Amino acid sequence: MDSRGAPPSWWRLELVCPPELEESLLWKLPILGIRRVALQHRPEAPEQRRLLAWLPACDWPEIQRSELAATLAPLAEPFGLPFPELQWHHQEEEDWNLSWKQHWQADPVGERLLVLPAWLEPPEEHADRLVIRMDPGSAFGTGSHPTTRLCLEALEQMAAGRGGSLAGLRVADLGCGTGVLGLAALRLGAASVAAVDTDAVAVRATAENACLNGLDGPLQVALGSLEVLEELLEARPADLLLCNILAPVLEAFAPGFTRVLAPGGEGLLSGLLVAQAPRLEGALAAAGWTAALAAREERWGLMTLRATADVA
Ligand SMILES: C[S@@+](CC[C@H](N)C(=O)[O-])C[C@H]1O[C@@H](n2cnc3c(N)ncnc32)[C@H](O)[C@@H]1O
Repeated sequence: MDSRGAPPSWWRLELVCPPELEESLLWKLPILGIRRVALQHRPEAPEQRRLLAWLPACDWPEIQRSELAATLAPLAEPFGLPFPELQWHHQEEEDWNLSWKQHWQADPVGERLLVLPAWLEPPEEHADRLVIRMDPGSAFGTGSHPTTRLCLEALEQMAAGRGGSLAGLRVADLGCGTGVLGLAALRLGAASVAAVDTDAVAVRATAENACLNGLDGPLQVALGSLEVLEELLEARPADLLLCNILAPVLEAFAPGFTRVLAPGGEGLLSGLLVAQAPRLEGALAAAGWTAALAAREERWGLMTLRATADVA
C-alpha cells in the first residue's frame, strides 16, 4: 500500500536498445535509483534488444519521467546515435510481480554454468551444471549482458585448460557488480575472491549473492577501486584478474594492474567494444602488458592479459 492506502502501481519503461547503449544504460539506471531492469532478446532483430525497467509510480510523476529522458539522452552522444524513444506503460502490483520475474529465467552459460534467479530451482535438463544463484534487481551483472557472458565463458575455458578446475587460484574481481564473475570462479574451484566496486549497491549485492550461494567465506568484498583491492589482497597480487568495465576505465587502470595481478598471472578484461581493442591493446602494451582479443559477442570483445615479461 502507498501512503494514501492505494495498492502500489508501477511504470514499465521500454525502449529499443542499440548495443552501444546497453552498457551505459545498465550502469546509469541503477545510479538514478532504477534497479529493476531487464534486457529482452528480440529473435526478429538479435542486434537490437529491448530494455525494460520498472519504476514505482508514486516516485515517478510526469515531471520526473521527463527529467529522466533528458538525463539519459546524452548517453547516446558519444556514439552519434539518436536516443531511443522511451515508452511508458502503467502496471498494477500483481502484473509487476509477474512481469518482472518472467524476464529472469534459468540462464545456462557455456557448457557448465547456470545463472539462476534466487526463487527458482535448477531445471532438470540443467541439473548437472554449476549453479550461481542471483538476486537480480540490484546491480549490473546477472549473466545476460554479452560482456558478462564473455567473461563467464572465458573462465570456464580457462578451467577446462587446467584439467577442469581453477583450483588454488586467488582471484581479483575489479568492478564486481552482482559478484557473478567471482562467484563463477569459486564454483569452478578457485580458492578465494577479493572483489571491489565503487558502487555501494553493487558491494551489497555481491555480499548478498555470496551468502545466497554459501560462498561468503571465500569471497571478500569492499567498496572502492584498485587501491582497496590491493589492500583486500593484503599486497599479494592475485593469480587471476577479472575486470568488466568500459574501455576508457580499463585503459586508465593499465599501469595499476601490476598491484593486483601477480607475475605469471592472467587477466580477463571485458566491457570493451571490439572497435576499441587496438587502442586499449596499445595502452596496455605501454604499461608492460600483452593483451589479445580472445573472444567476441555481437560488438563486445574480451581480452586476455599477461605481463609482457611472462610472454617473452
Ligand atoms: C559492467 S559492470 C560489471 C559487473 C560484473 N563484474 C559483470 O561482469 O557482470 C561494471 C561495474 O564496475 C563498477 N565500476 C565502474 N568503475 C569502477 C572503478 N573505477 N573501480 C571499481 N569499480 C568500478 C560499476 O559500479 C559496475 O558495477
